[in-house]
Amino acid sequence: MPNKTKVFITRVLPEAGIKLLEGAGLEIKQWTEKRKLTQEELIENCQDADALLCIGQQINAEFLKASKHLKVIALHSVGYDNVDIKVATELKIPIGNTPGVLSEATADTAFLLMLATSRNAFYMHQQIINGEWGFFEPTVNLGRELKGCTLGVFGLGKIGIEMAKRCAAAYEMKIIYHNRSRHEEAEKELGATYVSFEELLKQSDVISVHTALTPETEGKFNMEAFKQMKPGSIFVNTARGSIHNEADLIKALQEKIIWGAGLDVTHPEPMSPDSPLLKMPNVCVLPHIGSATEGTRNAMAKLAAENIIAGVNGKRLPYVVNAELYNN
Ligand code: DGY
Repeated sequence: MPNKTKVFITRVLPEAGIKLLEGAGLEIKQWTEKRKLTQEELIENCQDADALLCIGQQINAEFLKASKHLKVIALHSVGYDNVDIKVATELKIPIGNTPGVLSEATADTAFLLMLATSRNAFYMHQQIINGEWGFFEPTVNLGRELKGCTLGVFGLGKIGIEMAKRCAAAYEMKIIYHNRSRHEEAEKELGATYVSFEELLKQSDVISVHTALTPETEGKFNMEAFKQMKPGSIFVNTARGSIHNEADLIKALQEKIIWGAGLDVTHPEPMSPDSPLLKMPNVCVLPHIGSATEGTRNAMAKLAAENIIAGVNGKRLPYVVNAELYNN
């Protein structure tokens, strides 16, 4: 009997993805321990695999060089900053991701963080747990209104557009954005205005980050940027923690340079339970759950499985990051 094509999966994959892979006749090996694999374990587990479905692991040059035989690496994420794409492309390993299907869930998380931060919600909840539901006074525990405010989207792609739609519909917010290049279709759809990065900082009441982590965006929100923001503004990041400088963010909040922050991503992750951010009233932090709904995680698993099936059959991945592999 011929050997089955094998796929190694680095975490327990949602059922929809497993069904597709099994339906395609693939042999599945899943890492079920509740910890990340070490680099050595990852290399070892991929030795007899034809494909890797990667969740939450770093795919660096050393791993890729030791795993050249892989026909495809499918990520269970839209972001691919964890992969050395240049080396993967040199080694002709196609990398797949999961765009589109997580836009609404992630935008919901950004909206939740914006609203929760504007009303000090997580801190208030913690006060109840601490037995500190105190004397009612009309002058304390006051939040900020969002109606008619200006939302500045840093990175107006699929997720940014969903966030903008929610803010415009719920609070009639004015939408401005900054991207590497203009998104004229979105401008028409949302009535959004393209502005420079400096204007985004100056004009926004809420800044929501929806860009990829790249050398250009790494550390983009640093003290210099926070100082240009309005003192009453809220910073929301559901993209990647390294896009903000966390020490500068803490300082900007402590010194009231900006008003508050809502974070689904931190630097590092997991965040230390001792982070001063967790003690601030105007800060709401979530543990990177942007796409964490059952429907979205199943949809991501399906896309990742479709990428694996195409890759092991020598076909173009339907959702490919290094598309240049297929040029010519
Ligand atoms: C993504 O899809 O990039 C999410 O942030 C999960 O990492």
